[in-house]
Amino acid sequence: MKIKSAEFIMSNSNVTKAPKDRIPEYAFIGRSNVGKSSLINMLMERKELAKISGKPGKTQLINHFKINNDWFLVDLPGYGYAQISKKKRTIFQFFIENYFKEREQLVCTFVLIDSRHDPQKIDLEFMQFLGDNQIPFCIVFTKADKLGSSKLNHQINAYKKKLANFWDPIPTSFVTSSSTSYGREEFLEFIDGINKDVAKDFK
Ligand code: GTP
Ligand code: MG
Repeated sequence: MKIKSAEFIMSNSNVTKAPKDRIPEYAFIGRSNVGKSSLINMLMERKELAKISGKPGKTQLINHFKINNDWFLVDLPGYGYAQISKKKRTIFQFFIENYFKEREQLVCTFVLIDSRHDPQKIDLEFMQFLGDNQIPFCIVFTKADKLGSSKLNHQINAYKKKLANFWDPIPTSFVTSSSTSYGREEFLEFIDGINKDVAKDFK
């Protein structure tokens, strides 16, 4: 799929104020600092579309980007960031949860996992939450450039083995690097395929 346009539409803390367009939507979620905003920029080939930071907790709102005038990408705040106050964390959780429960246009969610990390409870629990709410999701292993290929394969296979304890079949997964653009084509083709599949539901 060719990216002809990618525009920032708005930021929100409340899903009821999100754009009303009836077009397919894809959300990016995962731990703080896992590379959600970087992945959006890499896919769109735009360095500063989504805001990035070396410090966790950069993205704090629901951010809508309209792509090719035809579908939305959504950059969400990360979970599992210990440095924010308990009160703020509860508000975060509330609006992220609400986003997933209320957003009818959402056709697929990408749960990002740092390729270097072993499976963590918070991510597995989040996948469980999506499953419980019948929200389709895929897994995206990020920062693949940080590992050599044999270590990378080892990590991903071990992760999939863990997933097989909870999921049958295990979720579709992708391997990406926002530094090298590894995985970009495959990822965009996947979205293009879904866009075509769901087109009739969005007429
Ligand atoms: P929050 O908005 O805080 O939840 O973080 P985020 O998940 O959006 O992460 P972000 O894209 O801001 O990236 C966090 C840090 O990881 C930044 O320093 C990025 O440059 C770095 N980073 C992201 N993706 C990659 C990658 O594929 N490879 C490498 N080497 N670094 C990456
Ligand atoms: Mg971010």
